[in-house]
Amino acid sequence: MKQIIVNKVTSGYANEVYQIKHHELIWYLKLFKNLKNYYREIEAIKQLKTLKLACPEVIFKQPRMVIFRGNGKPISICEESVKELSFLLAHQHSLTLHRNSIPLLDFDPQPNRILQRLKNLYGYEPYKLALVHGDITPENLVRDSNGLYYLIDWEEATISDPIIDLSIAIIEFFAMEKSFKESKYLCLLFETTYFNFLKDHLIESVYSSMPFKYFLYMACLEELQSWAITHNKRVLAQQYSTILEEKWIQQILY
Ligand SMILES: Nc1ncnc2c1ncn2[C@@H]1O[C@H](COP(=O)(O)OP(=O)(O)OP(=O)(O)O)[C@@H](O)[C@H]1O
Ligand SMILES: [Mg+2]
Repeated sequence: MKQIIVNKVTSGYANEVYQIKHHELIWYLKLFKNLKNYYREIEAIKQLKTLKLACPEVIFKQPRMVIFRGNGKPISICEESVKELSFLLAHQHSLTLHRNSIPLLDFDPQPNRILQRLKNLYGYEPYKLALVHGDITPENLVRDSNGLYYLIDWEEATISDPIIDLSIAIIEFFAMEKSFKESKYLCLLFETTYFNFLKDHLIESVYSSMPFKYFLYMACLEELQSWAITHNKRVLAQQYSTILEEKWIQQILY
């Protein structure tokens, strides 16, 4: 008889994740330290289901604890996965929602903090609201056994300006250990695919001006860096510093 094998996957400031294996079956157990994060993740997945978008499958839940079916694994960032991520986000962002449709999500997750910086610094106001993931990183993009891509880790999700997800993704592409040239190529591919999908929604005309993009990416980068420093994530903080010091944001824009 095969045993049940349990491995700790991550243990962070906000949660612990365990992989549970039995025969060929895999589950992920996520334990939340903060109840708000638990509710955000659960509410976001409910929204995704309502919107008929691909999402992680919840097998069991109770406050602070969720078990997901593990039918996929995080995928490395390459041309194919960047395009898939772009389609995934563009589709999600094209679906209009109203802020008060998810009252439980209205806490202070990462997208709200980035938006607040843009408001304070430049008086920016979003003109469209959508379901925003809020933590677009390569580790959170999963491909299942049928080749279907979806995002996991919805605990920063909220209803916000979709451009926040776009800017987080761009910053994270640069924070990966790839050459500047390669990251730049992936960023441009991501942006082009995203705006191409959304061209009927006229989003690009608002965001494509260089000064705006510069302010957006800087606000996002500074917020992510401040978060990494506060949470003692030294490697990540160093990666964000490199992006800032080497002025990569200016180099991709101009
Ligand atoms: N449904 C799933 N399918 C496949 N892998 C998963 C799934 N859920 C979690 N994992 C694995 O567990 C890891 C951590 O899960 P998750 O992203 O939800 O937590 P986290 O908030 O990123 O943790 P951290 O505190 O480290 O940021 C993922 O990067 C992935 O490797
Ligand atoms: Mg994650």
